[in-house]
Amino acid sequence: MFRVDIAHRLIALSSILCCSLAVLFPDPPSTCPCADPKLCEPITRKPEREVYAFSVSPKTWKHYDWSKLTTVVMFGYYDAELMCFAHSQNVKVVFKGYISVANLTDSYARNLWVVEQLQTAVDGHFDGINIDIEDPVVDKSVEKELLTELVEQTSEAFHIMNKFSQVTFDVAWSPDCIDKRCYDYKGLADATDFLFVMSYDEQSQIYGPCVAMANSPYNKTVTGVEKYLKLGIPANKLVLGVPWYGYDYPCVNITKDNLCTIKKVPFRGAPCSDAAGRQKDYRVINEIIKNSTTGRLWNDEYKAPYFNFEDPTTKQTHQMWYDDPESLKYRYDYASKTGLLGVGMWEADSLDYSDDETAKKQTKAMWDAL
Ligand SMILES: *[C@@H]1O[C@H](CO)[C@@H](O)[C@H](O)[C@H]1NC(C)=O
Ligand SMILES: *[C@@H]1O[C@H](CO)[C@@H](O)[C@H](O)[C@H]1NC(C)=O
Ligand SMILES: *[C@@H]1O[C@H](CO)[C@@H](O)[C@H](O)[C@H]1NC(C)=O
Ligand SMILES: *[C@@H]1O[C@H](CO)[C@@H](O)[C@H](O)[C@H]1NC(C)=O
Repeated sequence: MFRVDIAHRLIALSSILCCSLAVLFPDPPSTCPCADPKLCEPITRKPEREVYAFSVSPKTWKHYDWSKLTTVVMFGYYDAELMCFAHSQNVKVVFKGYISVANLTDSYARNLWVVEQLQTAVDGHFDGINIDIEDPVVDKSVEKELLTELVEQTSEAFHIMNKFSQVTFDVAWSPDCIDKRCYDYKGLADATDFLFVMSYDEQSQIYGPCVAMANSPYNKTVTGVEKYLKLGIPANKLVLGVPWYGYDYPCVNITKDNLCTIKKVPFRGAPCSDAAGRQKDYRVINEIIKNSTTGRLWNDEYKAPYFNFEDPTTKQTHQMWYDDPESLKYRYDYASKTGLLGVGMWEADSLDYSDDETAKKQTKAMWDAL
């Protein structure tokens, strides 16, 4: 019923979409699920600094350090209780938006998508949307333009509906067509409240020696952010995203000075990639490090910790690259001294929120580093 209704209205508005977005207003909100109906109202504060958390599971959000947060993305799930609680803490709640790049050339599909996002926002009492499209887009293609146009339209529609809306877009660590994502980054920044720079998975395309490296090398992260700034994107439209996870690489060979050669797994045109490894949550890494053969080592160029360990079954040597409070502080400090709008993490559920005393300390240290 709901879809049919949207489609009908869409047909009605398609001729005027060019001139007014006001007609896009979706159905009025359903009843408020919060004990206090005031908690369904939009958050109106615009903080000077963002601390932006991706939440992927409805299980652990109660344990976040809410005093640090400004926005939480419910990434692919909905929990009304989280919305009510976040609003009680003056924290914005947004949801993930995705559209296949293949659908961009269909104007009907595009318009329908925008209206559906508005409806989701209204129904869930959300404060905005985080658009996460990581599909390849060819440079100078029509899709490149249409993507920016869609984001502009979405942002305009959201801000008409709620002027305090927050519309953001997730971008790779650098604007240089990473993973064949040749987006119009300046256009996307202009269209949105800010870009979330995913300064991780930076080894998704390895062109040099096929060896294990940091997930978010400090020097590479800085180079990427500087390129966004050079495009004319203001620092206060960038949020630096950092990893609360690492990569576990099986070593094909390992030298005495810990250079771990990895299997060649190509990705989007590159001969070698981090797909040779496996992503591991911070809490899992803290377990595996107990079995490490080297203890925690530090790479000062990358400003990142790593260690080696042996797989208990195959006996193969692995190398783990990850981030911890010490390495993350370098990135948070960089964001601060560069005047970026803030920082955020993928993702907040990767910590150990159990009652274990050691885990509690490790988890607190991660939040405190923010
Ligand atoms: C939009 O994308 C979906 C999923 O990829 C696909 O099933 C659908 O046919 C596409 N629609 C158009 C109009 O391209
Ligand atoms: C970062 O440092 C490493 C190690 O010295 C070097 O190989 C790499 O080229 C540097 N990357 C950038 C982007 O400067
Ligand atoms: C592994 O590395 C060592 C030391 O660099 C080298 O001597 C050896 O040939 C390498 N083995 C393979 C199979 O690449
Ligand atoms: C650590 O090593 C022991 C003994 O090989 C193994 O049973 C255990 O699963 C390992 N722990 C982790 C987290 O890998």
